[in-house]
Amino acid sequence: MAESFLIDNNLTDEEKYKLFIKQLDHLVNNQDKLISNLANVAAALKQTFDKISWVGFYLYDEQILYLGPFQGKVACTKIEIGKGVCGQAALLKNSIIVPNVLEFPGHIFCDAESKSEIVIPIIKNDSLFAVLDIDSNQFNSFNEIDKLYLEQICIILAQKIF
Ligand code: SME
Repeated sequence: MAESFLIDNNLTDEEKYKLFIKQLDHLVNNQDKLISNLANVAAALKQTFDKISWVGFYLYDEQILYLGPFQGKVACTKIEIGKGVCGQAALLKNSIIVPNVLEFPGHIFCDAESKSEIVIPIIKNDSLFAVLDIDSNQFNSFNEIDKLYLEQICIILAQKIF
């Protein structure tokens, strides 16, 4: 099923997220490898939202976030917990919306064209497994709607494949 993923560019962001979540059940499953599931989720998000310039997962292991499956330009391979937006979201176990990356102290620049960002931690039984990191080449690309639905997506991923 993973091969067919429906996208409708006429929908609002909220409607796109709802359609995305409906299809997530078919897109990921625990018979496939984690890396394969995450690769398809990154691709599906990039295909669904034109505002996304980079989307990917950093996987947590022993105080470090390691670059996982992603779509976009080449990126930093390791981020320490507490460093950058990803490391802060991981440390606080909270999502972070950054409307303007130039104003976020310690923001790590992987792509000089990135202007705004959202990071969602993936947590299961109180333990951190990964973060979902999304960048845009426009300022103010992400809001509470993105946070709400991306958190739902990350909860489903935590339940189904981590
Ligand atoms: N900007 C991130 C680093 C990862 S890249 O955006 C892909 C951060 O500050 O954590």
